[in-house]
Amino acid sequence: MSAPTTKPPGLWTAVRELPSNVWSSVFRNPLPSSDLERAQTSFTNFFLHLHPVKVHRNTLRPVYTLGLGLISLFLFLILVVTGILLMFYYVPSTTQAYDRMLDLRGTVAFGIFLRNMHRWSAHGMVAMVFLHMCRVFLTGAYKKPREFNWVLGVVLLLVTLFLSFTGYLLPWDQLAFWAITVGTSIAGYAPLVGSQIKFLLLGDTTVGQEALLRFYVLHVAVLPAVLSLLVAIHFWRIRKDGGLSRPEDGPAKAGPTVVKMRIEPKTRTFGLQGFVRGPFTKLGNVPDDSVYSWPNLLMAELFVFVLTVSIILVVSLLFNAPLEQPVNVMHPPNPAKAPWYFLGLQEMVSYSAFWGGIGVPTVFVLLLFLTPYIDRDPKGVGRWFARERLLANTLFLTLVALNVIFIIVGTFFRGPNWTFVSPF
Ligand code: HEM
Repeated sequence: MSAPTTKPPGLWTAVRELPSNVWSSVFRNPLPSSDLERAQTSFTNFFLHLHPVKVHRNTLRPVYTLGLGLISLFLFLILVVTGILLMFYYVPSTTQAYDRMLDLRGTVAFGIFLRNMHRWSAHGMVAMVFLHMCRVFLTGAYKKPREFNWVLGVVLLLVTLFLSFTGYLLPWDQLAFWAITVGTSIAGYAPLVGSQIKFLLLGDTTVGQEALLRFYVLHVAVLPAVLSLLVAIHFWRIRKDGGLSRPEDGPAKAGPTVVKMRIEPKTRTFGLQGFVRGPFTKLGNVPDDSVYSWPNLLMAELFVFVLTVSIILVVSLLFNAPLEQPVNVMHPPNPAKAPWYFLGLQEMVSYSAFWGGIGVPTVFVLLLFLTPYIDRDPKGVGRWFARERLLANTLFLTLVALNVIFIIVGTFFRGPNWTFVSPF
């Protein structure tokens, strides 16, 4: 017996239905209008698949996360896009790099704007990643089971700093050359291996063509790839660690406006694995303090994205990225300053080369790595400035304040020969 055959649609029908067929091949489901469809939206869409079907309300409280992790991510995405466009014009050669910067400024359409976006996003990312770390610390979010994600975060912070630092050299102007000269000489203070590390970075004993090429390769390929991989693991861990941290005792009080689950009386609801507590498939098991990722989380993310891009656009329209005179190795500026985020280090180096450049930063980074393994008290997670964490938060804020003060002193109060000057 032969199987029943259905007649294929004619050519005209295929053309007429082309748009809707293409659409439904990409988006398998219509816009969701029921809880089941909201869940399916997260299951079936590649990008939404990164999200859990439901998130705890606390995740959506803007005052809890301040959106800082997301802003860091979006700044990184802006950096990747503008960076790729800049690569079409840039040449990592000591004889051409600076001229290419001038071209971007003068002849390439939107060149200066592109460079501004890249530059300000890079500075913004360093600041946001740092602030995100502060948020995580001050809410005790590094505690069990999130210890490893904190460790990953510390690596992310270091990679972000290094990524920004390697980009600093590329314009090949006086600012770039001398900032990197100062920065890499700080690395040279490391005992035993200092000069080797410096040579590994520069490919030479001084900043020159070899250093420019190494910094370029690190900046456009190696470090972005490493950062992307680490960010992916960071996000995966957030899910595996049970979503964002939250107070232990019940739902957060002030939640955002959310789409409520519509539960009609006599409707049978089944818990599906992963988004309902308790035994799976338990009849009538309804979570009360979590909301669907679609549209709640997605809209919040979209809002942060639009806000981040808008701010970068406005700042890039208003302020131009600096470009100083071309490199003159015979004529160092006085004082030659490292990039702002390393000015705290440079300030400390002015007191003691070893302790300022190597000793104190190493101890500080080690302490950061070990934080979740030293502080094992489970109390005070999921709340800003929890009373139980008074000591830890005070210690942390003191170190942060010291770093900020050193950066401010290095930026505004240091003049020729690193003597004190008044900026006023
Ligand atoms: C490229 C850098 C980074 C990106 C893109 C990033 C992104 C994110 C995002 C989007 C979240 C979700 C919640 C939020 O927005 O706050 C998050 C959570 C988290 N991040 Fe990061 N992060 C970065 C660096 C760091 C750093 C430097 C640390 C700490 C040293 C860190 C530790 C954590 C931890 C522990 C969580 C879970 C927080 C919680 O459960 O409340 N991250 N990160």
